[in-house]
Amino acid sequence: MDRISISKGDIVRMKIEAIVNASNTSLLGGGGVASSIQKYAGDEYMQACIALGGCNTGEAKITPGFKLNAKYVIHTAGPIWRGGNKGEPELLKNCYDNCLDLAVKNHIKSIAFPSISTGVYRYPVELAIKIALKEIITFLKVHPELEKVVIVCNDERTTRLYKNYLKKIETQNLF
Ligand code: APR
Repeated sequence: MDRISISKGDIVRMKIEAIVNASNTSLLGGGGVASSIQKYAGDEYMQACIALGGCNTGEAKITPGFKLNAKYVIHTAGPIWRGGNKGEPELLKNCYDNCLDLAVKNHIKSIAFPSISTGVYRYPVELAIKIALKEIITFLKVHPELEKVVIVCNDERTTRLYKNYLKKIETQNLF
């Protein structure tokens, strides 16, 4: 699957059509990816986020990227990890599916995801990567119009875990 790759870096600086914001249900404030995007995208971006009026956990909404290199930001609210029995896996799956659906509906051909929920929301990375990669790869197989998906991680460990699992999927033909 050469349309998916893992990269270490800052998602905000990506030169790609769309980046995904790992946000919260208000789509305002926060730390992590959300605050980095806010810092660079400008005042109009903030106004556009306010106008969205929030987003349920697992859903996705879109705004322009304004001052970012990316033309669009797709916002999603990941689940907060509460031990794993509160529907977290299904909600995280919905985040990826809804972001990808929204991307193709907007004729987006390239998109970068952060590792949704594994920062402030404490979703265990080892579990989250399995959901993320399964959803993305399954989606790419039925949507040839989506040309490129990059998962951008900002730390060494997360990057390595994603890369190792992607390699395992490819060598064992898991999905
Ligand atoms: N580029 C790439 N990855 C990043 C960046 C960045 N600029 N900043 C953080 N990350 C990584 C984190 O290290 C983590 O692996 O993205 C992953 C997701 O982390 P968070 O941004 O904390 O997202 P999440 O766990 O989904 O928590 C969402 O945090 O920022 C608030 O408003 C947001 O309340 C919401 C919550």
